[in-house]
Amino acid sequence: MARFWRRRPSVSSGGPSTGDPEAPVEVAESRRMLAGILEHVEEGVLLLNGTRVRWLNPAARLMFPALKQPVGRLLVEVVREHRIDGLALRARESRLEQAAEVELPISGRILQVRAVPLHDGDLILLARDITRLRYLETVRQQFVANLSHEIRTPLAGLDLAAQTLSAELPADGDMRLFIDRITQEAGRLADIVFNLNQLAALDAEGIAVERLPFSVDDLVRALVDRYQARAAAGQLVLRADIATAGSTAVGDRAKTDQALQNIVDNALKFTGSGEVVISASAELSRVEIAVRDTGPGIPGRDLARIFERFYKVDRSRGGQPGSGLGLSIARHLVELQGGTILAESIPGAGTVIRVRLPRAPLTSP
Ligand SMILES: Nc1ncnc2c1ncn2[C@@H]1O[C@H](COP(=O)(O)OP(=O)(O)OP(=O)(O)O)[C@@H](O)[C@H]1O
Ligand SMILES: [Mg+2]
Repeated sequence: MARFWRRRPSVSSGGPSTGDPEAPVEVAESRRMLAGILEHVEEGVLLLNGTRVRWLNPAARLMFPALKQPVGRLLVEVVREHRIDGLALRARESRLEQAAEVELPISGRILQVRAVPLHDGDLILLARDITRLRYLETVRQQFVANLSHEIRTPLAGLDLAAQTLSAELPADGDMRLFIDRITQEAGRLADIVFNLNQLAALDAEGIAVERLPFSVDDLVRALVDRYQARAAAGQLVLRADIATAGSTAVGDRAKTDQALQNIVDNALKFTGSGEVVISASAELSRVEIAVRDTGPGIPGRDLARIFERFYKVDRSRGGQPGSGLGLSIARHLVELQGGTILAESIPGAGTVIRVRLPRAPLTSP
């Protein structure tokens, strides 16, 4: 190690040195700037050589205060956390950047850590304290969960009162119109509350996810059957397209079904005329269920955002009813199973939403 320090005197515990007399002025200047930046960034920065700490900035010293003299010591002695040490090891061995979220046992701080391999076996470790961010996320989730729970009871009361009144009223007239409107709006509110409760349940940790083989064809056919009447009422063609018959996905059938219901609901809701096709296909290691429609499509700038909570394209124009939660729930449900979901669209021509799940290994005959 000593030889190392002599060979590279520019690195010391005080930060990258700026005092190389032979360095041209610009080099010295940029070193000074770099040292200044690293000194003041909130992100912890540690420079490693092998498993030892070569240098660290003040933010990293605050995050990992275990040793007074951390320079030259083993990383694990400095950070006191085997997962961070393991992350650095994986980055060094794979020569690929690695990232993880780690909760420090003593301080309880939550860090987002990245290990980035440099040349010569050097490695840079970047740590960001996201404790407050995680806390605020929990507060938001609890707020939404509590709110949706509290709304459920008065909503049920409202619906019951409207139904009782409705039974007393003559079949037509203004009062009937109003009471039907109340029932309809209460129903929409109940849908929103249902979606919010679903999201709250998905946010809660430890949600059970099955990983069992299920037939993709059956799932697609069942969906087509379930929505056939609604499609016909809207004068739309709804059909299945099974490209690879007999393929089997591994995952949670009920959750996949729920996700696809949200996607098919959108396709039928936004498509004015034409058709909605639910297709199934398989590749070597994954299956894909795609829902394609001939609706208005989604502009490119919105496409990446439709999976966000409450995001609706052109919300200000009113348009179709909905709270903007269906696709965020769908994404959650698919990703929980290790799957992916993506959207493609040509404005004016239609939209395709693709759900991909791991494929069950083919059993030999
Ligand atoms: N097939 C589609 N064609 C055109 N636009 C779509 C389609 N699917 C989704 N979108 C756009 O993406 C937005 C988000 O969809 P999402 O399902 O999350 O919400 P929503 O349908 O508006 O409400 P919710 O599903 O909560 O009732 C929609 O409001 C719509 O603007
Ligand atoms: Mg929807």
